[in-house]
Amino acid sequence: MSIEQSELERLRKQVAQLNDQLMHSEKLASLGQLAAGVAHEINNPIGYVASNLSALNEYINSLMMLIKQLGKELPIEKTNRLKLAHDFDYINKDLPILLSQSESGLKRVIEIVHDLKDFSYLDDAEFEEADIHLGIQSTLNILGNELKYKAKVNTSFADLPLVRCIASQINQVVLNLILNAVQEIEHNGEITITTGYDDMWVWFSIEDNGPGIEQSILELIFQPFFTTKEKHKGTGLGLALSRSIIDKHQGVIEVKSKLGSGSCFTVKLPISIKTEKR
Ligand SMILES: Nc1ncnc2c1ncn2[C@@H]1O[C@H](COP(=O)(O)OP(=O)(O)OP(=O)(O)O)[C@@H](O)[C@H]1O
Ligand SMILES: [Mg+2]
Repeated sequence: MSIEQSELERLRKQVAQLNDQLMHSEKLASLGQLAAGVAHEINNPIGYVASNLSALNEYINSLMMLIKQLGKELPIEKTNRLKLAHDFDYINKDLPILLSQSESGLKRVIEIVHDLKDFSYLDDAEFEEADIHLGIQSTLNILGNELKYKAKVNTSFADLPLVRCIASQINQVVLNLILNAVQEIEHNGEITITTGYDDMWVWFSIEDNGPGIEQSILELIFQPFFTTKEKHKGTGLGLALSRSIIDKHQGVIEVKSKLGSGSCFTVKLPISIKTEKR
């Protein structure tokens, strides 16, 4: 192959890679929009289900009182017979349990919808003063089940100032880092999320007790398409995308890892304007 040909080949590969990278980020963006759309649509019915449920609670209490009062007007044997025929005692016991379970189920749905909205990776998202802890918490909520069976999550949060960032994109980075940790952990996993700040940076770190990363590939893992995962399990874009998001924030993403004992990824975001928490 001549020099021109090999240069052409290298450029062709580079264009193909960039194209794939673009498609990956477009896919993420449209997923985010879909999530925001779904969250918006679900919000409406949730609103009236929640208000109906609270009205139902009151109506049921009134009805139960009425039944008890009516029972007192009837001869005791007749009341007992009627209660038995209609399973009154059981219903009376089970109703508050059913209602409270429905209420807590609904509360969970409301939280998920709220987190999904927070999370959407919208193109027109702008820099804003954001509370990093809210983003981390939303991501943990979204990952709820995926995490539960694989790892215990510890958090150690400092009293952070707000940070100027595109919150949905920082959430995306947190998600990529936690997902990587979970995916590497075999069992008895432990993930520790720590936050802190100094004069220059607000930072968060995500540490796992997974297998760790070989020193020889530590420099490569941020490159697009570098993956050690089986085909279809990883595209090798999570960290490349995370680095490009953090670059856009003029921040830093670093990794420390020891084979056999785990890895720790730290993201630092510049404190441009110190803003007190609202
Ligand atoms: N917490 C971690 N522990 C061990 N290895 C890790 C960890 N995080 C990343 N790696 C290594 O870095 C590689 C690149 O990670 P990256 O997130 O960019 O891609 P991926 O997870 O393989 O695929 P994708 O994120 O696109 O699904 C991983 O394949 C893995 O080898
Ligand atoms: Mg990944």
